[in-house]
Amino acid sequence: MPVEFLGIAATGDGSETAARTTAAFDRDYTLRLARAHEEHGWDRVLFAYGAGSPDPAPGAAYLAARLDKLQILLAHRPNVSYPTFAAKTFATLDQISDGRLTVHFITGGSDHEQQREGDFLTKDQRYARTREYIEIVKRIWTSREPFDHEGEYYRFHDFVSDVFPVQQPRPGVSFGGSSAAAYAAGGAEADIYCLWGEPLAQTAEQIERVRAAARAAGRTDSPRIQVAFRPIIAPTEELAWEKAYRTVDTIKAHKASGALVRRTAARPGETADAAWRPENAGSQRLIEIAEAGERYDRALWTPTAAATGGAGNSNALVGTPETVAQALLDYYDLGVDILSARGYDLLGDAIDFGRYVIPIVREEVAKRDAARVAATAAAEAAAGRDRPSALVQA
Ligand SMILES: Cc1cc2nc3c(=O)[nH]c(=O)nc-3n(C[C@H](O)[C@H](O)[C@H](O)COP(=O)(O)O)c2cc1C
Repeated sequence: MPVEFLGIAATGDGSETAARTTAAFDRDYTLRLARAHEEHGWDRVLFAYGAGSPDPAPGAAYLAARLDKLQILLAHRPNVSYPTFAAKTFATLDQISDGRLTVHFITGGSDHEQQREGDFLTKDQRYARTREYIEIVKRIWTSREPFDHEGEYYRFHDFVSDVFPVQQPRPGVSFGGSSAAAYAAGGAEADIYCLWGEPLAQTAEQIERVRAAARAAGRTDSPRIQVAFRPIIAPTEELAWEKAYRTVDTIKAHKASGALVRRTAARPGETADAAWRPENAGSQRLIEIAEAGERYDRALWTPTAAATGGAGNSNALVGTPETVAQALLDYYDLGVDILSARGYDLLGDAIDFGRYVIPIVREEVAKRDAARVAATAAAEAAAGRDRPSALVQA
């Protein structure tokens, strides 16, 4: 299977190491960053979702209309929309992009962040709602006949859409989360299951949880797996490690200055430190892994995750392009189909990673795939030699 690369579609500069110098939605920067991905070998970019951030759906339409190849992964939170409306938005975007849309359904890992936009369900309830929402969206994408829906969270009658996706039977459904409720919902509904980069052993364990959930849901296939990292590359190992330590010092200074946005604002009576403590299982796992060790496997480095309180995609892969590429290939060998990466200098790192790391990984994956095809053909030929021919049988 060819490997795919997912980058980031930011609408402004700024990261954990640098304050933003653009507007929150800067048209030129949005296009420049996405174009850098398209021109440097990336397959797709993620438009993330945050309560106060620019709406990613029109951002996706903007990029789709200006770029020809780059695919778009659009993050969407069910609480901000009704599924009939969202399904039409997605179908329209798939038309605008000529079939380049995948939707990443977000349940929400923080009560406080969800409540900012009026969502007061518990996390487990949110997962149940996400699952119902995805089922409805899939049905709307594929149903030519009006239908009624009577569910736990949604109820409507006689709906049929007049706009359908280019992709048939429908666009891909992407999903993330590392709690039991997440595996159950995503294992049942997702085409792509997204994980944050963890050591190989923990990643293998999560992949197994996803596959078991898919089986439990009665599926004969299982979601493709995506894993996300923060690569820190330089021409030599020594320079890469210097850069890594510099990066984490800058994150800490940035955080201490208050410039890094907190996951949840401290509530009355709560210490600022408590506001950094994540509620979502995925971030808790990252913190636990960081507390247990700084370095894992070939190049995984956890201080970047520790410094941000396990804020999403935050574990680094440190080394030369060759080392980082080999580390990524270890994940491919584990069953990962999509490699997601984002640097700390969004634009410069997208170019460097695309120029120096992606070609190595693609070449090695092509070799592995060719070897696999050759081995299968040889095994079939050997089995054929052992089998009596049709003539002899007759
Ligand atoms: C690759 C990936 C991307 C995500 N993108 C977003 C995002 O843009 N906005 C957001 O609020 N949550 C995002 N999430 C969070 C998840 O959708 C989910 O709400 C959270 O991880 C649930 O927590 P759990 O680990 O406790 O199940 C993302 C998760 C993953 C794995």
